[in-house]
Formats: sequence, structure tokens, C-alpha cells
Amino acid sequence: MSSAIDSYHVAAKYYDGAYGAMKDLVDAPFYLELSRRSGGPVLEIGCGTGRVLLPIARAGVEIHGVDNSGPMLAILKENLRREPPGVRDRVSLHVGDMRDFRLNRKFPLVTIPFRPMQLMYTVADQLRALTSAAAHLADRGTLAFDVFYPKFDRLHLHIGEEQLEAEWSPPSSPDTIIRRYYRKESVDKIHQTYTLTFIFRSYRNSQLVSEESEPLTMSYYTYPHLQALFLLAGLEPVAEYGSFAKAPLDNASEEMIFLLRPARR
Ligand SMILES: C[S@@+](CC[C@H](N)C(=O)[O-])C[C@H]1O[C@@H](n2cnc3c(N)ncnc32)[C@H](O)[C@@H]1O
Repeated sequence: MSSAIDSYHVAAKYYDGAYGAMKDLVDAPFYLELSRRSGGPVLEIGCGTGRVLLPIARAGVEIHGVDNSGPMLAILKENLRREPPGVRDRVSLHVGDMRDFRLNRKFPLVTIPFRPMQLMYTVADQLRALTSAAAHLADRGTLAFDVFYPKFDRLHLHIGEEQLEAEWSPPSSPDTIIRRYYRKESVDKIHQTYTLTFIFRSYRNSQLVSEESEPLTMSYYTYPHLQALFLLAGLEPVAEYGSFAKAPLDNASEEMIFLLRPARR
């Protein structure tokens, strides 16, 4: 299976609303703290609409964003137009595929926040993505990324069932309510991927006025799988966490978060 190419055609325009409504998504302060400590410039791979990138630029850190989705980058550019010139000047955007882009410069901090690594569906692509990230690391640089820890007990449950995930009103249309639903379609336990459909329904006066949907395939990882990828990519962990509050990575973990550096020879 090839990796997501220029995806998020439908989901891009709902992205900021949906994730803004998910109050348990607490990754941005984690990446902001790392960015501040690095002093910048930072490279964010799979930067999307700038959900994580923009607070970093607002905090005074120079940041480069790479993404291969035209629709996601278009929203980020729209978001940037609303920022003061000082923030805009700190942001550089690049269209690129995380498996093979090269900016020909090195960064003290490279990040892949909120699971773009789960959009790499083969070991070859996963390795290419980590190798590309590592190629942009300065000598003592840090690569930070997160993936979720799969809930194996629930993996094969609720297939074909719609679940409501988020509900919000766009600031430009406060009398509209948008609901994002999620339907798991299938699981491929051999290739460690599952496919889902996002459904976006808009309501006015409780009446459905539009519905759009888009499929997405995600891969999932286990810890030893990631360890093997790090070895192959010439990376070694300097820290690993089970949550963005930096809980230890253990049986209670719902996230796997890594800080890596180029392996010492
Ligand atoms: C879940 S979003 C994360 C966006 C952002 N980092 C955030 O935290 O909100 C995943 C992003 O990865 C991007 N992506 C997927 N495949 C990619 C690829 N092959 N190369 C570059 N970006 C890719 C998508 O376009 C999307 O913007």
C-alpha cells in the first residue's frame, strides 16, 4: 500500500474546528516547550494547518513546516494571513513528501507531531520518513514524534459503527453546528493498518444542511517495531514518554512519544 499522497482534501477545512473542540488533545504545549528549549529554528514535518506550528512561531521561535497536502497548507496560509507580520516572518513553508524531501539545512529540533508517522503504511516508507527526518538533524539535534499505543482489546470492535467525536460551531457561522463522526471500516492486522471514514455533518436549526466524508488509513506501531526502525535509521532514544505530561512509557500508556538523536558510532 502506498502512503497518503496529498490527502485531507475534505478534512482540511474541518481540521481546526474539530481538533479545537477536542479538549483532551494536549500535545501542543509539549512541542512548544521543546521548541523554546531548542532556541530554533525548528522543522515540523507534517505541519498541516499549523495547529502546533503557529503557537511556536507566536512564542518567537523560527519554524519551517513541510507537508504534502495542498488543502492543509492552504488553510495554514489562510491562518498565517491573520497573524501579525512578526509571526508570519518566522514561518517558512515547504511542499514536500516526508519520505524524501530535503531542505539542505540542519535543525536543532525536528518534530513530527500528531501522528504523521501513522500515515506511513509500509516498513520501507516508515524508514524513509525517519531517515529524511534524521537527515535534517544538526549534530546534537533532537527528533521528537508521537504515535498512539494501539488499543488491541478494541481493535476489532465497532467496525461499521458511527461514533460522534467532536461538535463545534465555526466562528464565521455561529448558528451552524458541525459534527465529526468516525466509522472504522476495516482492520488489516498483518500490515498493522486500519481504515476509517470521517463524516462531517453540518446542521442549522437542527436540520442537516450538508454532509461530506473522506476515508483515511492509519498504521499502528508497537514499541519493538519502533525500536527496530530507530536502529535502521541510525537514531537512538534519549527520552520516551507515555503521555504529553511525560508519564513513563508503560502498560498505562496511550501514547508513545520519543526524543531521539543521531546514534553515536
Ligand atoms: C494528523 S495531521 C497532523 C498535522 C499537524 N502536525 C498537527 O499536529 O495538527 C497529519 C499531517 O501529515 C501530513 N502528511 C501525510 N502524509 C504525508 C507525507 N507523505 N508527506 C508530508 N506530509 C504528510 C498530512 O497532510 C497532515 O497535514
